[in-house]
Order: sequence, then structure tokens, then C-alpha cells
Amino acid sequence: MRVIHTLAELREALAGHARTAFVPTMGNLHAGHLSLVREAKRHGGPVVASIFVNRLQFLPHEDFDQYPRTLERDCALLAPEGCDIVFAPSERELYPEPQAYKVAPPPALADILEGEFRPGFFTGVCTVVMKLFQCVQPAVAVFGQKDYQQLMVIRGMVRQFAMPIEIIGAPTVRADDGLALSSRNGYLGASERNEAVELSHVLQQLAAGAHDPARALAALEADAAAALRGRGWAPDYLTLRRRADLLPPTDEERLNRIPMVALGAARLGSTRLIDNLEC
Ligand code: PAF
Repeated sequence: MRVIHTLAELREALAGHARTAFVPTMGNLHAGHLSLVREAKRHGGPVVASIFVNRLQFLPHEDFDQYPRTLERDCALLAPEGCDIVFAPSERELYPEPQAYKVAPPPALADILEGEFRPGFFTGVCTVVMKLFQCVQPAVAVFGQKDYQQLMVIRGMVRQFAMPIEIIGAPTVRADDGLALSSRNGYLGASERNEAVELSHVLQQLAAGAHDPARALAALEADAAAALRGRGWAPDYLTLRRRADLLPPTDEERLNRIPMVALGAARLGSTRLIDNLEC
């Protein structure tokens, strides 16, 4: 496995490879990321994983500085998975000048849910993913379904810009108790770690009521928020949405069992966790 820090070296290493599979990450890897690499391996070509903590997708008060940079450990995890290249550019390498050109995803998808609570987040994500795609020029790119809205936003970007890249969503990997794996779980203290699984429990409850329009959507969502609040969490949103566009389903759609997803984001202490469950 090669660890490459410059775009010139990356291009040289990939020259002549037609079917590169790409896993973009911000490092601090866990078993969820490694499952994305295993998925990428199935596509036959060389596998590139990028490790880059992207300043553009953090708000000023968020954890950009604190975000763990663990390149050596990450490489030690990636090598046995058969990752061929780790692309770990410095900020100067990826953003040699202020990134004034940005990719702005549509507000109807990108300014709701995560985008409501993290304004500009998806512009930051799309901009870096577009740039990383230009660097790696993959045929296939793998993203985790844990970041459900991110996956939808990226799929839309690739479709609308006619980018010749197959986007694959890989299932969320969970700890034994059901907590979705996340780099941010590392911020949790021991008792917070035990409590953290409750986010997935309230999403299960929301999902259980999804197809029962006798239970009003607003009441279901309010119950979910109250359940977490009662345990000391500060929820941003706990909501049931249509999978197609992440807008709220009508009662008729709920009755007709259209594909839906329960999505949640909530802070436990100073750690913000997200999760989702299709239903
Ligand atoms: O999901 C992530 O880790 C990041 O948002 C991504 C896709 C690597 C872009 O920085």
C-alpha cells in the first residue's frame, strides 16, 4: 500500500488504471470505513482511500481543530484490507489557494435536516468530493449510508453533472449494542457511550409507527424528541421522511407504505451523533 500526499504523485500512480474504486474519508477510521474499503475491493480495480479533514464542511464552532488526525493508525488499518493507495493531501495541497469556486447543492435537499443545523455543510462536502473525484477520477465511489442525506446529495451531484462515477451506498456498521459506528463516538465518555445507543432505539420506535397514520407524524416525532430529552439529550431533529426526497410523507403515503426513513441527530453532552433507519 502506498501513502501519497501530492496530486502529481497520485496521478502518476493511477495512470493507466481504468476502474479505480474510491473511498473518501476524514480519517480516524473505524470498522465502518473498513467495510467501505471491502466494498470498493469488489470492483476489481485499484482501491484509493482518501484521508482529508475538510475545513470547508465545518462551522466555526464545530470540531475541525479537535477532529483526530490519526494517519499512522489509519494506514495500519487500511493495509490489511487490501487498500492500494492512501491519498492524504495536506490542506495546502488540496486547497493551494482559497477555494472560491464551490458546488452548491439544491436548498430543497441540502438546507433541511443536517443542512438546517449545519448551514453550508453540504456545500463543503460537495466541493471537496467534487475535487477529490477530479484527483482520483474513480469509476466507483463508496459512501456509508449512515450519512444518509450526504449520500443523497452526492448521488444528485454526480447525476446532474453527468459524472461517470457509480456511487455505492454501503450499510451502516453497528457496535454490538446497536450504536452506529462513527468517528465522533470517540468523544463519548464511558457513561455517554452506554447511553448513545438510545438514539437508535428512538429511531426504531419512530420507524415502528411509520406506516400507521392513526398516529400523527407530529406526535410520533414529538414523542421521540421527548424520550431523548428526558434522558438528557438535546435533539436537533428526529423525523420520518420519504426516501425519495427526504420530505415528510403524507398520511396516504404512510398508509400506502411508501419507502421511508427515520432520521435523527442529537447532542449527548458535547458530542453530536446522527443515525437513520429505513422503514
Ligand atoms: O463522510 C465523510 O467522512 C466526509 O463528509 C467526506 C465524504 C469524506 C467529505 O469530506
